[in-house]
Amino acid sequence: MTSRLSCFRSFKLSFFPLLVFLFSSAGSVCVNAQQTEEQFINALLGKMTLEEKLGQLTQYTGRSAVTGPDVQQGGEEQITSGQVGSFLNIYGADTVLRLQHIAVEKSRLGIPLLFGHDVIHGFRTIFPTPLAESCAWNPSLAERDARIAAEEASAAGINWTFAPMVDIARDARWGRIVEGAGEDTWLGAVFAKARVHGFQGEDLRASDSVMACAKHFTAYGAAEAGRDYNIADISERTLRETYLPPFKAAVDAGVGSFMASFNEIAGVPSTCNKYLLTDVLRKQWHFDGLMVSDYTAILELIHHGVAATRTDAGILALEAGMDMDMVSGIYIKDLPAAIKDGRLPSEFVDKAVRRVLRVKYRLGLFDNPYRQLSAARERQNTLTDAHRAAAREAARESMVLLKNDGAVLPLSKSIAKLAVIGPLADNPSAMLGSWAAVGKPSEAMSIYAGVRNGVSKNTNVRFAKGCDVNSDDRSGFDEAVALAKDSDCIILALGEDEHMSGEAASRASLDLPGVQNELARAVLSAAAATGKPVVVVLVNGRPLTIGELVADARAPAILEAWQGGTEAGHAVADVLFGDYNPSGKLTATFPRVVGQEPLYYNHKNTGRPPNENDKYTSKFLDVHWTPLFPFGYGLSYTTFAYSGLKLDKTEIGANKDVIVTVNVTNTGNRAGAEVAQLYIQDEVASVTRPVRELRGFQKIYLKPGEVKTISFTLAPDDLAFYNLYNLNMRRVVEAGWFKVYVGTSSADTTEARFRVTASYRMGE
Ligand code: NOJ
Repeated sequence: MTSRLSCFRSFKLSFFPLLVFLFSSAGSVCVNAQQTEEQFINALLGKMTLEEKLGQLTQYTGRSAVTGPDVQQGGEEQITSGQVGSFLNIYGADTVLRLQHIAVEKSRLGIPLLFGHDVIHGFRTIFPTPLAESCAWNPSLAERDARIAAEEASAAGINWTFAPMVDIARDARWGRIVEGAGEDTWLGAVFAKARVHGFQGEDLRASDSVMACAKHFTAYGAAEAGRDYNIADISERTLRETYLPPFKAAVDAGVGSFMASFNEIAGVPSTCNKYLLTDVLRKQWHFDGLMVSDYTAILELIHHGVAATRTDAGILALEAGMDMDMVSGIYIKDLPAAIKDGRLPSEFVDKAVRRVLRVKYRLGLFDNPYRQLSAARERQNTLTDAHRAAAREAARESMVLLKNDGAVLPLSKSIAKLAVIGPLADNPSAMLGSWAAVGKPSEAMSIYAGVRNGVSKNTNVRFAKGCDVNSDDRSGFDEAVALAKDSDCIILALGEDEHMSGEAASRASLDLPGVQNELARAVLSAAAATGKPVVVVLVNGRPLTIGELVADARAPAILEAWQGGTEAGHAVADVLFGDYNPSGKLTATFPRVVGQEPLYYNHKNTGRPPNENDKYTSKFLDVHWTPLFPFGYGLSYTTFAYSGLKLDKTEIGANKDVIVTVNVTNTGNRAGAEVAQLYIQDEVASVTRPVRELRGFQKIYLKPGEVKTISFTLAPDDLAFYNLYNLNMRRVVEAGWFKVYVGTSSADTTEARFRVTASYRMGE
């Protein structure tokens, strides 16, 4: 605590005798240095009426007004009478200051408000989507980007972001795969931690920090058929091994809040899942921050069919451990009667209120509710040159080179006639991606614009759209074909727009939408006739089934640019013209056809692993079982070779580490970065184990011809898994052989083995 006693009611108001009386009779919310956090909370709780308590558990959304987002009609009165604890979707320094002043100076207890917003991959400066950014395999970059997003958002009055989304997504049909770090649990935990640190900074109380929110708790990505909001029916083992670890990593990183997921698991909607919200999160993990519902999710317990009335839904949720009601309005409107008639013990309300007050305390809001907010600070911190430069750096590091036959890339900057064709070629809003907060298309760089800025002045860059992203209108084909014929090189930008991934944007087909494949065929044959190269740039929010393009020799290069944000167009040009050597690696498997989904590298072997020569093995009749591109895959303008894989021991006892070393050589003639990946496999165990599991990576920079020896430490935690006993599962390391794989992707590795000589249990 910095000040001995700090209080943010204005002197003018406190001086007014009546208010002084009210203030002291109701008790002050000033923080006293002698009080501990819990004493402060207890003292404040003791002064609150039931309505004020339920108000703290209530979050309302804003509305758009001419001057920007603001409270709904009657919002000011709700604040004054203590009926609201938080708003979402309201930002802007002036508006937030005005509303916070009302809360602090006009409500009876002066409790400041939380202002939440979805700051998912940037606030005004938009960074690559989280899926894209994870392909950089650079957690420091993710942390830095989250920090910048926090600086911009906090300057606009936001003190709480609903991020990071740490859901594991193994099914590319699910549109929200774009919001997370892909399919791997171990990597997901690494990014969860980085992003929490980035948003919350060194000190949550600092005026440029925002409270993070680990969401959506949990297994939301396991939605059946990848259809958003659908049920997840997964085992306790899959829940613990695949879906929970990134959430635990967020807790360990000090995340301030959690959001429960919309879905149910095995018949229990997360919104009222006591096992998850209380037993796992509070009792096992000792999380004491805030749990918020998803948007109207408490009300949706009625649609799930576990509550008959709004009141039942509210009771179920609150008793399970759901602290804050996002938008349903059930806690404040329907719970007072349930408490009065004894259906809901008031201790549940108090528990939840404590958590709301606790996070407000930890954000320093009782000391400093206005957090140095001003319109001037907001202007100075928004979309600065430094932020744009960071966005460009992040976007190019996120891109994955999928194909580069004949080293057609990088392109020369002095091609005479360059065509940029396709519905994603001059589409700035698509570059921003699905959850672009307050990012503006007018401030985003399209590929066409980026390419124009990237070439020499002798290059004539021309554009033809060819077709829309998703329609059957072919009327633009002729213009595109004519341009292709009259060009020396064609950049063909294809993919999805910003609405085709993200929430409520699941797809049953993973093909390029609309008539884009037809456009590609037309352009490719025109270019083949003149012998000019075509470079495909993909802009999309999920893995796509692009087998046709991959197999087509007339498209020698494919760059997966994802949705790179504000500076995406410049970043694409940096990569295409060789100012940046691509180093991204996929964090989500690309299937050959949608029917392979869910498809992920760390699957089980089955009793009948696929075998070309045996029909009765686990495969398809009509498509190969392997992916189009595996997890961890990505090319560079140089090449790398692995040699000399060594383990420091081939036998270890209980609780011992193994050190793995390997040499990586840049065997090409350009400097570049390689993401060296380490996987393990427990060969024989009491339960089946995945064929391989990521346990480490290193991103290293090598000059041409340079060799680096890198090492990884495999610790007991990396070898452990949950054992057999369903109701009382324990993490154990079992004696036996482990394989170690190191290499450039999950499907291209060298291997070694070691043996654990004795089984042991991990601590809780
Ligand atoms: C619904 C989404 O599922 C969640 O991720 C988001 O934070 C809330 N809406 C608030 O916008």
